[in-house]
Amino acid sequence: MDRDRLTELAFKTMGKRKSHLQREKGYIFYHCERVAKIAIHLREALFPGDSSKDDVIFAGALFHDVTKGIEPHAATGAYLVPQLLQDYASNEEIQCVSEIVRLHNTRNREDQPFYVRIVQDADILDHFGSQEVWLKFMYGAHKDENVFDAVRMWESDEHEKYVAGSRNALNFELSRQIFNRKHSFHREFVQRFKAECGGQIDY
Ligand SMILES: [Fe+2]
Ligand SMILES: [Fe+2]
Repeated sequence: MDRDRLTELAFKTMGKRKSHLQREKGYIFYHCERVAKIAIHLREALFPGDSSKDDVIFAGALFHDVTKGIEPHAATGAYLVPQLLQDYASNEEIQCVSEIVRLHNTRNREDQPFYVRIVQDADILDHFGSQEVWLKFMYGAHKDENVFDAVRMWESDEHEKYVAGSRNALNFELSRQIFNRKHSFHREFVQRFKAECGGQIDY
């Protein structure tokens, strides 16, 4: 598979689309593009000797949310993939890509192939760290929230549960390490943001 051609196709399908009310147009394309890159990095670190499924991992991640908004998107996406990719991949590859899309939210199942589990982790990781700040600011802009609403949400029990649940849903120890680093950046950011929103200075 030609990754540049696949990325062009992904942009054509998702690059201008608004898939969430509180997110910007095209969000889903950039999310999918990042998930594809993260998934390849994870594969290289976790299974360094096995690049045999890299094209499938890349394409599966790139199209995993292609029908976001047409729910259940894992099922509708898996259904769309064979038509979308017919001129881009072999039948065998298309089957694996479809499988990744279909199973991307069916987590914590040890019987799933490694290429599915890697994309599942990459998808979770892309919602944390600096991305979490962007997502919350975009949400706040659409909902007319102020800075203290963001701080309150980030300090809430509900948010703590969301973070713990997302960490628990990861398949690999390495993903948990990456997640923890992203989360400690975020905690530091929230502390500083809260202080600066309160007019404090740091010297
Ligand atoms: Fe999804
Ligand atoms: Fe996703």
